[in-house]
Amino acid sequence: MSEPSVYEVIRRRRDVRAEFSGEIVEDATLLRILDAAHRAPSVGNSQPWDFVIVRDPATLAAFAAHVADKRIEFHDALPPERARTFEPIKIEGITESGTGIVVTHADERGGPQVLGRATVPETGLYSTILAIQNLWLAATAEGVGVGWVSFYDEPFLTDLLELPAGVRPVAWLCVGPVHELQEVPDLERFGWRSRRPLDAAIHWERYRSAQPF
Ligand SMILES: Cc1cc2nc3c(=O)[nH]c(=O)nc-3n(C[C@H](O)[C@H](O)[C@H](O)COP(=O)(O)O)c2cc1C
Repeated sequence: MSEPSVYEVIRRRRDVRAEFSGEIVEDATLLRILDAAHRAPSVGNSQPWDFVIVRDPATLAAFAAHVADKRIEFHDALPPERARTFEPIKIEGITESGTGIVVTHADERGGPQVLGRATVPETGLYSTILAIQNLWLAATAEGVGVGWVSFYDEPFLTDLLELPAGVRPVAWLCVGPVHELQEVPDLERFGWRSRRPLDAAIHWERYRSAQPF
C-alpha cells in the first residue's frame, strides 16, 4: 500500500470524539506516531515536550469525570440558544479511545538562553504545539484518530499525573483506532461554528480586513 501524501492526510485529519472503534492502538504504531511528534521543529532545538501515556482505566475514568464537570460548567454559562446547540456535541472520547496521551511542556528546558526565544517567549510553547500537530497528522496517516480535550483545570491534571513543578499539561489527546473519520468537523455539523474560507485568511502586503474577528 502506498503512503498517503501529506496533503491527503491534512485533508483527512479530524478531531475525533465518537468514531473510536474500541480497539487499543498497538504500541508499535503508537511509537511511530510519537517518533513523528518528536521530530517537530523547536525553538533553539529545545524540544520542550514530553508524552505521558495513560491507559489505566481508573485514571481515564477520573479524568473523564472531571471533564464532565467542566462541560456542565461551560454549558451552564451559555445563553439558552447556544446551550441548546451545544447539548448534542460530544467533547471527548477519553474512555472509548482507551489511550490518553498527555503532552506536557517544560518551559525551562534548554536553559536560560534558548536561541530564538529571547524576543518571543511563547516560542517554547509554540514548539510543543508543533509536536502535537506532527502527532495528529502521523496518527491520521496510520488510521488512528486523535481528539484534543481541553475541558480541564490544569492543577487537576497536574495532580492526577503527578507532574513535577515546571511541567505544564498542554493537551489531553484521546488516541485510538477509528471506524471512520468524518468529512466535516463536528462543530460545523452541529451548527456551532463553521470554518472560514481561505480567502478571508489571506492578506497581501498588509493586514486588511473589514471583520478581523
Ligand atoms: C487547542 C485545541 C483545543 C481543543 N479542545 C477540544 C475539546 O476540549 N473538546 C473537543 O471536542 N474538541 C476540542 N478541539 C477540537 C476542535 O474543536 C476542532 O479541531 C475544530 O472544531 C475543527 O475540527 P477538526 O479538527 O475536525 O478539523 C480542540 C482543538 C484545539 C486545537
